[in-house]
Amino acid sequence: SSADLGVYGLGVMGANLARNLARHGHAVAVYNRTTARTERLMDNHAAEGEFVPAADLADFVASLRSPRVAIIMVQAGAGTEEAIGQLAELMEPGDIIVDAGNTLYTDTRRREEALRDRGIHFVGMGVSGGEEGALLGPSIMPGGTEESYQRLGPMLESISARADDGAPCCTHVGPDGAGHFVKMVHNGIEYADMQLIAEAYDLLRHVGGLSVAEIAEVFRSWKDSELDSYLIDVTTEVLSRTDPATGQPFVDVIVDAAGQKGTGVWTTQTALELGVAVPAIAEATFARAASSSADARAAVRGASIELGASQDAPLAGVEREAFIEAVRQALYGSKIAAYAQGFDEIATASAQYGWNIDLGAMATIWRAGCIIRARFLEDITRAYAQEPELASLLTAPVFSAALAGALPAWRQVVATSALTGVPAPAFAASLAYVDQLRAERLPAALIQGQRDFFGSHTYHRVDDPTGVYHTLWSTPERAEEKWN
Ligand code: 6PG
Repeated sequence: SSADLGVYGLGVMGANLARNLARHGHAVAVYNRTTARTERLMDNHAAEGEFVPAADLADFVASLRSPRVAIIMVQAGAGTEEAIGQLAELMEPGDIIVDAGNTLYTDTRRREEALRDRGIHFVGMGVSGGEEGALLGPSIMPGGTEESYQRLGPMLESISARADDGAPCCTHVGPDGAGHFVKMVHNGIEYADMQLIAEAYDLLRHVGGLSVAEIAEVFRSWKDSELDSYLIDVTTEVLSRTDPATGQPFVDVIVDAAGQKGTGVWTTQTALELGVAVPAIAEATFARAASSSADARAAVRGASIELGASQDAPLAGVEREAFIEAVRQALYGSKIAAYAQGFDEIATASAQYGWNIDLGAMATIWRAGCIIRARFLEDITRAYAQEPELASLLTAPVFSAALAGALPAWRQVVATSALTGVPAPAFAASLAYVDQLRAERLPAALIQGQRDFFGSHTYHRVDDPTGVYHTLWSTPERAEEKWN
């Protein structure tokens, strides 16, 4: 038993995680169901550190020093379930099984509870940063017991990304499913961020009349603003590429149907269950679905419904520069709204499950390594440092000021989208979210009246907010009854 920990599953993510651990001086046992992958890893990378290859699972487990740590990095779903089952059979009380895939937090809670009864620590761990991140430094979001983190934490922090101030992008998120929950919301925010950038691109192209190459330059210039982020870099790269076969912008030869593996759906579904509004994340997820609805798109396009407005009406000189800046501000405002929604979802779940998640710490570990890493995360980190109990990110002074600055241009952009028929659902939903939260009164009062009318669902009065009232709508003389 010589290995500090083991990695089960040597696809690109698993292999890169194992190499990262070995490069940082940890002795890593490696196992894959098909041994060819294990052999390939050893052939190509054995010199990078101390690996302990195992051809069967019993040898793999036997090679781990106690308390054992095995990190599973296999296909989410059935593959993970099977790997956990097999490992659990071979592990002893005090040992730690880590699921490093994107797993729905309710599955993690169920597995953690089942293994807890057998004395085995089960850790659901979010890992962000893609293949390159896994090798060079990901952002890591482990859940599970405090005790498991004492054994795992130092190893994970040694391989994680580091923020500019040197802090590792890894922390103990909270018990049972907290780590996978936070990773899920990270991905939901990722969906929103990507959709918002895509809407900005679409508006610049079809309303602003910019070429793809010009838009690439606009995004590049936004790196000098609050929008500086990895996803803006990725966008610039994609938009800068030309298709060698046709000479067209590469983006024009890609089929416009966005795929998804499920984490955006989970984030949205979970928000609905928790009663948290995450419209930017939901719209981003729906937008992927709408883009992939080939039959409906073809049918509606074929019906050539009169839009009442035209696309592709390029703007002239000065107006064009102003429009670019307006889109930038709309993007920034929408991004603040989207992150506020994601953090609200984490806060709500944390309260519901008693996870006690430090929201500021989540912003801190997203500053580097992960897909949503951005300069902006520094502001979120600071906002929570100043006020750990923030009711909404929108109220942090830095963001309320930014929103006030962005709102006029943001409204123009959303109006322009509506008037030209160039859809910007996430921009619009984010704006409506802010307007709902800042409204003095919402028409929800009318909804309550409607509910009480047809279903006796009761309401509260503004002059008695805790009393429960029902109105006998058909008998005006004894109009109102107080139920408690
Ligand atoms: C990350 C990513 C990663 C992955 C997701 C999103 O944080 O490294 O979020 O987990 O890219 O699988 O994938 P889809 O867009 O396919 O849903």
